[in-house]
Amino acid sequence: MNALLNRREGLVLVGYRGTGKSTVGRLLAERSGRPFVDADDEIEARAGRSIRAIFEESGEPAFRDWEERVLREVAEARPGAVLATGGGAILREANRRVLRSFGRVVWLRAEPHILVRRLETDARTRSTRPALTSGGVLDEIADVLAARTPLYEEVAHASVETEGKPAHEIADWILEYWSRCSDPRPPQEPHPCS
Ligand code: S3P
Repeated sequence: MNALLNRREGLVLVGYRGTGKSTVGRLLAERSGRPFVDADDEIEARAGRSIRAIFEESGEPAFRDWEERVLREVAEARPGAVLATGGGAILREANRRVLRSFGRVVWLRAEPHILVRRLETDARTRSTRPALTSGGVLDEIADVLAARTPLYEEVAHASVETEGKPAHEIADWILEYWSRCSDPRPPQEPHPCS
């Protein structure tokens, strides 16, 4: 299956916090033999502080500037990688363009009540997930997700419902999709993924 993958076409995972982008991304990288890049980890490494600290000390717009810069640099430096993005990476138009040109973009979906449960038990929540609104967790997720849904729809080539599915099953589906869609076809044949 790996031989079918077009070597320069990367794979991008987008979706709300807690949809499993990093876990699924690592599995995908392992199985495809591609490098894995987690955009949040890259931001923290370059900024020399946690995402929570960037939000608290410099504010969300400063974090979004870091995010835009890092996505652009990663896209240039690591073509063909598996890239897990932060939940808000789709907010800026420039980012959506960069992600689409990097490769196939897959949106991992889940309903707000499922996300609350996952976020409460996820160890990354404390350092990388400062509050985005002043409301309660469920309200925040429902509001922010509703506002972002059109942007996830716009940027994604495909989407996967994650509820009740183990990460390896989601990775299997995406790997099959990625192989099928990066298979170069002669121009006279309809492309299976356009
Ligand atoms: C954010 C999601 C986080 C991180 C930052 C902002 C968001 O990433 O980038 O806290 O706006 O949804 P994860 O989706 O990896 O948690």
